[in-house]
Amino acid sequence: MGNYTITVLPGDGIGPEVTEQAILVLNAIARRYQHTFTYHRRLVGVAAIEAEGVAISDESLEICQQSDAILFGAVGGISNYDGSDKVKPEEALFKLRKGLQFFANLRPVKPLKNLLSASTLKPEVLQGTDLLVVRELTGGLYYGHLEPPVPGKPSEIRQTEHGREAIDTLIYTETEIERILRVAFDSARDRKQKVTSVDKANVLSSSVLWRQVANRVASEYPDVTFENLLVDACAMHLLRKPTSFDVIVTENLFGDILTDEASMLAGSMGMLPSASLGTHKTAHGRLGLYEPIHGSAPDIAGQGKANPIAAILSAAMLLQYSLGLKDEAAAIEDAVTKTIEAGYRTEDLREAGARIINTQQMGQKIAATLLQ
Ligand code: NAI
Ligand code: MG
Repeated sequence: MGNYTITVLPGDGIGPEVTEQAILVLNAIARRYQHTFTYHRRLVGVAAIEAEGVAISDESLEICQQSDAILFGAVGGISNYDGSDKVKPEEALFKLRKGLQFFANLRPVKPLKNLLSASTLKPEVLQGTDLLVVRELTGGLYYGHLEPPVPGKPSEIRQTEHGREAIDTLIYTETEIERILRVAFDSARDRKQKVTSVDKANVLSSSVLWRQVANRVASEYPDVTFENLLVDACAMHLLRKPTSFDVIVTENLFGDILTDEASMLAGSMGMLPSASLGTHKTAHGRLGLYEPIHGSAPDIAGQGKANPIAAILSAAMLLQYSLGLKDEAAAIEDAVTKTIEAGYRTEDLREAGARIINTQQMGQKIAATLLQ
């Protein structure tokens, strides 16, 4: 019976549609367990650019920092990425992640039993898959372009005497690598005691340092089985034998790409939640940002086709990691499983015999299951 404040950043595209259903489910939890959730809703992404001229305002960042947790939808709008956007909606994410130092992005991938046949992969390959990708979130290639530019980390298109050239910088300090590896090893201790560190050490200097640090940290965890894997081989093994993985730890861009791939193990992009954690403490635990791994999906926005389960499972992670409400988080996962077992599916999981419902109906079914 606690009181908690949650900053809600719905964003644009399908962001507001799926976030609304996550809130419906959180309200069902509040009723069932007699908690009070106070929501502070703020604009981010396209909505904030239109209203405030920035992807996220300093005031919103401040409100995020003062809350117990942040529930994020998605941002992106419609862009052809030709550099013509003055302000990119995605800047909101970078500012939040960097500003609040959310360096560890946890992305669990556990296909539901009743969804194995919804995947493009064979059920017998998927059976028993239960892995966690720990993606480094505040370093690597993503941060060269910050305004003002960070000295020594160029990310730009520039004019030379031979024509234009473009540069991005992949830079990691030993400290950044070590802290994300420790998150992976500590997570593995609570799971199946295995860590796979993914890099491109045959080509990249940043990966050579990554591997050196990984080997050193691994020696401190003799109870955890450890392996190094090159990222291209990892992409293949994820589809060949996903059950061979427990915790996968990797740098920012590799983690981004590998988890879009891994979403196909779970049947859809609309199924995978995430938690972004740092070191900032709150009265109830660690401040975290919780969001589906998918983007704003402009191709299906406004049509009631978006699967809200990734957002709903992100709310479950919020309860678990930032509010310390483990039973409540498990209750949400259970309600999602039961709703899928009952045959309900959004459009992205269409298969023979499924009962196709829209975004809102899926949220309502899951919330109702929680209150049965
Ligand atoms: P996306 O993840 O938005 O969509 C990829 C594909 O998956 C689309 O076909 C979409 O319809 C489908 N999809 C995604 N979420 C779904 C859901 N919940 N239910 C059913 N189908 C779903 O990636 P895309 O199209 O490459 O990017 C769109 C925009 O989103 C871009 O501007 C990108 O920068 C941004 N983005 C934002 C993220 C965030 O806010 N954290 C993360 C990834 C992309
Ligand atoms: Mg992605």
